Amino acid sequence: MKDVTIISHPLVQHNLTRLRDASTDPQEFRRVLSEVAALMLYEATRSFAIRKVSVTTPLEPAGGYQLEHDVVLVPVLRAGLGMLDSILQLIPHARVGFIGLKREETTLKANFYHKSLPPDLSDSEVILIDPMLATGGSAVAAMDLLTEHHAKRVRLVSLVAAPEGIERVRKSYPNLPILTAAVDRCLNEKGYILPGLGDAGDRLFGV
Ligand code: PRP
Ligand code: URA
Repeated sequence: MKDVTIISHPLVQHNLTRLRDASTDPQEFRRVLSEVAALMLYEATRSFAIRKVSVTTPLEPAGGYQLEHDVVLVPVLRAGLGMLDSILQLIPHARVGFIGLKREETTLKANFYHKSLPPDLSDSEVILIDPMLATGGSAVAAMDLLTEHHAKRVRLVSLVAAPEGIERVRKSYPNLPILTAAVDRCLNEKGYILPGLGDAGDRLFGV
């Protein structure tokens, strides 16, 4: 699949399995999701542009690198919040935008309810964070908003993706890199990913 990276690292797969397990309670779910998000970040940032700089060590000048662009993290509410903190700990200088979307239960349409984004994302590396890519409606709606804000370099980090969601995203955003721990089998008649891990927001927050 073009531009879909499946992160097969053993720790990512181990944690994903903990999250799939229905007996993992919200407290543990929050902890493990946070951990797996940090692990996925390494892969998500692998292709960040860097530029050469020089610094002076206590002994002598040294060549080094720094990130070329500023970083903006954009979790999709609510479930994306479960992946934010650990990522922010690894990129503490990142700015954080928010997109609020809620899937309507019957139509599965992603309804927009909140946006807080820097007005101009054209020179930023944007990481769009949402643990679940199901029908792809939320990801496309989030990408539409990021595009309105002139985002050019976006990566989507989703813990679990359905083939249907990937296909939908691909139709609108053919070049968007998608990083995931698993591409699952399919969606059920209610739009849930199978085998998936259930409703990520509910499992995180207990409601
Ligand atoms: C879940 C999930 C994604 C979305 C994926 O959120 O966190 O944002 O569904 O589904 P899609 O690909 O079919 O759009 P939900 O809308 O349930 O909101 P929540 O995070 O507040 O529970
Ligand atoms: N949203 C979720 O939280 N889980 C799914 O399986 C599909 C959409």
